[in-house]
Amino acid sequence: MVPDQTHGKPRTPHDVHPPSRSGELDNRLRRFIYRPDLLAERYVRRGDCVLDVGCGPGFFTREFVKAVGDGGEVIAADLQEEMLGLLRSKLEPEGLMPRIRTHRCRPDSIGLSPDLNGTVNVAFALFVVHEVPDPARLFREISTLLAPGGIFFYSEPPVLVPGKEFSDTLAMAEEAGLRLEERSWYFVNRAAVLRKE
Ligand SMILES: C[S@@+](CC[C@H](N)C(=O)[O-])C[C@H]1O[C@@H](n2cnc3c(N)ncnc32)[C@H](O)[C@@H]1O
Repeated sequence: MVPDQTHGKPRTPHDVHPPSRSGELDNRLRRFIYRPDLLAERYVRRGDCVLDVGCGPGFFTREFVKAVGDGGEVIAADLQEEMLGLLRSKLEPEGLMPRIRTHRCRPDSIGLSPDLNGTVNVAFALFVVHEVPDPARLFREISTLLAPGGIFFYSEPPVLVPGKEFSDTLAMAEEAGLRLEERSWYFVNRAAVLRKE
C-alpha cells in the first residue's frame, strides 16, 4: 500500500489522495455538484469498454458501469489497493462488480495488459493527472489503450492545477496522439475532451 502521505506533514498539490479521506470523494454533495450520471450519459454507450484511471472509491465508476450495461465493462484502475478495496465494498452490494475489472497501477505506469491495446472506447482521468509523476507516459498509455476514435476526458481542479499547467498537460496529450476536441469546464474544474486519431 502507498503510505498515507498526509501523515505528519502538510499535503502538497501533487500528493496522492489518502484513502483515509475517501469520504470526500463519494458523497451526496459531490453527486449533486458533479452529476456523474450525466457525465456517463454524455460519453458512455451501452456495450462500451470504459477505463476509469485513478478511480478512487468508485464515485464515477458506479455511473460508468450502469451506462455500459450488461454487454460492457469498466476497468477501474488505481495506484492504491485500499481505494480498490473501498470501491469493491461499495459497488458489490449494488450488484455492479460483475461488469468491473479492478486493476492496481504502478506509480509510473497504468500497466494494463497489452491485450487491451486498442479496445477501450472511453477513458476518464478525473482529478488524477496532477497526482501522476509522469503525465506524458500516462497519456501515451491511454492513447495506446484507446480504440481508433475513442474518447479521453480528463478534468483537474483549478486550485491545484493552474491554467498554464493544464495547458502543458494538454500539449503532452496531443503529443501522445490524442486530438483536442474541446477545452471547457466541468463544474468549476478545468476539463478537456480528446479523441484518438
Ligand atoms: C483525488 S482522487 C480522485 C478519485 C476519483 N477519480 C474521483 O474523482 O472520485 C485521485 C485518485 O488517483 C489515484 N492515483 C494517484 N496517482 C495515481 C497513479 N499514478 N496511477 C493511478 N492512480 C493514481 C489515487 O490513488 C486516488 O484514488
